Amino acid sequence: MPLFNYSIVFLQKICDNRGRKNLANQVFSLEQKRSGFSGKLGFVLAAAGSAVGLGNIWRFPYLAAKYGGGIFLLVYILLAITFGFALMVAEIALGRKAQLSAVSAFAKFNRKFSFMGYLASIVPIIILPYYSVIGGWVIKYFVAFCCGNMSAAAQDGYFNSFISSTGEPVLYFAIFLGLTALIVLLGVEKGIEKVSKFMMPVLVILSLGVAVYSVCLPGAMDGVVYYFTPDFSHFSVTTVLAAMGQLFYSMSLAMGIMITYGSYMKKEVNIESSTRQISLFDTGIAFLAGLMIIPAVFSFSGGDQSALGQGPGLMFVTLPKVFETFPGGAVVGALFFLLVLFAALTSSISLMETVVSIFIDKFGWKRNVTCLIVLGGSVVLGLLSTLGYGIWADVKILGMQFLDFFDFISNSVIMPVVALITCIFVGYVIKPQALIDEVETGNVRFKSKKLFVIMIKYIAPIFILLILISSVLSAFGIIKI
Ligand code: PFF
Repeated sequence: MPLFNYSIVFLQKICDNRGRKNLANQVFSLEQKRSGFSGKLGFVLAAAGSAVGLGNIWRFPYLAAKYGGGIFLLVYILLAITFGFALMVAEIALGRKAQLSAVSAFAKFNRKFSFMGYLASIVPIIILPYYSVIGGWVIKYFVAFCCGNMSAAAQDGYFNSFISSTGEPVLYFAIFLGLTALIVLLGVEKGIEKVSKFMMPVLVILSLGVAVYSVCLPGAMDGVVYYFTPDFSHFSVTTVLAAMGQLFYSMSLAMGIMITYGSYMKKEVNIESSTRQISLFDTGIAFLAGLMIIPAVFSFSGGDQSALGQGPGLMFVTLPKVFETFPGGAVVGALFFLLVLFAALTSSISLMETVVSIFIDKFGWKRNVTCLIVLGGSVVLGLLSTLGYGIWADVKILGMQFLDFFDFISNSVIMPVVALITCIFVGYVIKPQALIDEVETGNVRFKSKKLFVIMIKYIAPIFILLILISSVLSAFGIIKI
């Protein structure tokens, strides 16, 4: 969600720099023309811009609610400061050392690993369509609040009857994806980014206000306790898997994006402290979103814990109820959904830019044609996700609806595989010292060097492998976790 002038501009540069020649020439031209972020602030804002999005506001709270509240929060924070930190440092340093985006960076170090660039590229291709489906839901709620339908939107059953219908969810999905494509095609991102520069702080302040209000609702204290107290009886492999998938998604890791960002980072910018700031910002917003939603769930469900397991609909079901009790709730609610929509839109723009650049990179197509092809492919995949809650609700893959399946396959399978191979690649092929040297460029001290090496070489790979195996076995019903 770029507040942030730089991310789209630089993604645009990637697109412009590519697509004309074959890969070798592109690599050459990229190296010749490579320009960078102006400085640390530019880099941190751009990377935080990619990191903060619907993942923080919509996805984190429903996972935290579902997977045990405090225990999920604890596992997430522990993973963020150890594993997420190490992986983000590794990706940024890889990109800056290679001076290339993900598709070519792995190949530059070792040709045998060139497949990694492609594997990582699959992730945004899968995410963009279903991200747009959720974006469509946000538009629907914004429209409902604007049209004076707040009370209807706050009713039980409103969300389910909306997503299980056919026309409306498809229409709103199409509007969201169409808007994204239009902005990418017309290249008006800079205007959008200027607006988001003041909309983002407003979103943060509004979220703070709503969080304080939620916590003060009658019965909400139980939710605060649930959110803050780690209950180890709720701990399972699934908790860790869900937290890890969320970490990748939220921090835009294991999809090649941070490698590309790193390739545009100036040599004098401190990778370690930039990474700390990005993760702090990202985790802070997710935490706040949880505080907005989870206590409110307790308040409105009267302590009925089953309300916590609703999944993707949690934000949409809970927040209208909060706004309904709010003085001037219709206006505040409309403003809130508008801001979330903006956040979602700026993120989907950067997702689409990424996908477009991958195709231009690979096939050398024209930019406009590529945008239309990506739009067409996303419509097809997104339709599966939309109608998977409605007329195709009976069609299930591994027992999951389409949207959940796409979410599962990208976050719980491909991203962990990419992260695992990245760790092996850094730990045993190019060796951590190569990246430590990159972090320490210009006499900077890498304070968490030991943590980085231990995480990348030993803990993270073993950990991810175990979790990955158990999650895949459980998806196929071989074990129960
Ligand atoms: N990290 C974003 C979120 O949490 O919503 C999702 C995302 C946006 C991933 C843009 C990748 C990306 F390029």
